[in-house]
Amino acid sequence: MFHHFRLTVAAMSVLAASMVFTACNEKESKPEPKAEVAEVAVPAPSKSVVVYYSQNGATKKVAEIFTKARNADAVELKLVTAYPSTYDSTIAAVKAQRDTKQWPALENAKVDLAKYDTVYLGYPIMFGSFAPPIYTFLDSNDLSGKVVVPFCTYGSGGRKASAEELKTLEPNANVTLAYGISNKRVTAENGAEVAAGEVETFFGNLEAGKTDEMLMGGFSEQRPLAAEDSAVFAEATKDYAYLGLKPLSVSTQVVAGTNFLFVCEMKAFGGPAVQTNVKIFKPLPGRGAPELIVVEK
Ligand SMILES: Cc1cc2nc3c(=O)[nH]c(=O)nc-3n(C[C@H](O)[C@H](O)[C@H](O)COP(=O)(O)O)c2cc1C
Repeated sequence: MFHHFRLTVAAMSVLAASMVFTACNEKESKPEPKAEVAEVAVPAPSKSVVVYYSQNGATKKVAEIFTKARNADAVELKLVTAYPSTYDSTIAAVKAQRDTKQWPALENAKVDLAKYDTVYLGYPIMFGSFAPPIYTFLDSNDLSGKVVVPFCTYGSGGRKASAEELKTLEPNANVTLAYGISNKRVTAENGAEVAAGEVETFFGNLEAGKTDEMLMGGFSEQRPLAAEDSAVFAEATKDYAYLGLKPLSVSTQVVAGTNFLFVCEMKAFGGPAVQTNVKIFKPLPGRGAPELIVVEK
């Protein structure tokens, strides 16, 4: 965020920009500021808002973590006509909306964003990008000049692609690095705790101006698969047969456990073969099974 922020306020000195950012941070991380007794003149910290849509609660869980972590206001976008309750009929309804670009009406499409400089925008991934209610929100509000921090939940991926689409649709907003977590991980018993930890790391990366490219930099070069890599891959992807993944090579990164980055061929739902990356995390021995983190280019 810092990086993007600085780019767009080129007239400001780096020092001034960093002061604003620090002030903002301080306000956000301390719900009870000593503002009333402070004698030093600091720029008034601007508030941020979490705007999100969630059909089944996974994204809402992450939205609550963002809201708390940033001491932000929150707005849950509500559909006038909810999606059907079954997965298959929701798929059909969303497909129809995407095909016609008839975005669904919201009870609260227009959000008063004037007092916010940062909008944390949360959504479930649907058809590889954000859920249709987000298009309605974007059509109804002006995000020019705002810092927009995307976050999402997904089955297998869509974090990067959705943030890219957001950048294209909102060229006058400063769309930052995006946070994403799979539905499986965030709805697990310890999901809130896991997500809260990741969100904290995510904010650290944002403030350090990290890009996705920089975050990928920690992986060593790709190498052929060894038997152990194949075993980890098979275990972590056993619920994702529909993606038709075939690992081609791998690189690993030792953290508290091991991160794996597999370059794969994917034939999702039996479609054409495309190359994709699959990230898997294998915890330290005794700390659980290898888990799929994300599938994305
Ligand atoms: C209509 C529909 C389409 C979806 N499309 C994708 C998709 O393209 N990629 C993906 O990884 N997950 C997809 N999912 C899974 C959701 O992103 C995931 O379950 C999410 O966590 C739901 O969030 P919620 O509980 O906040 O509604 C889709 C789900 C639905 C209902």
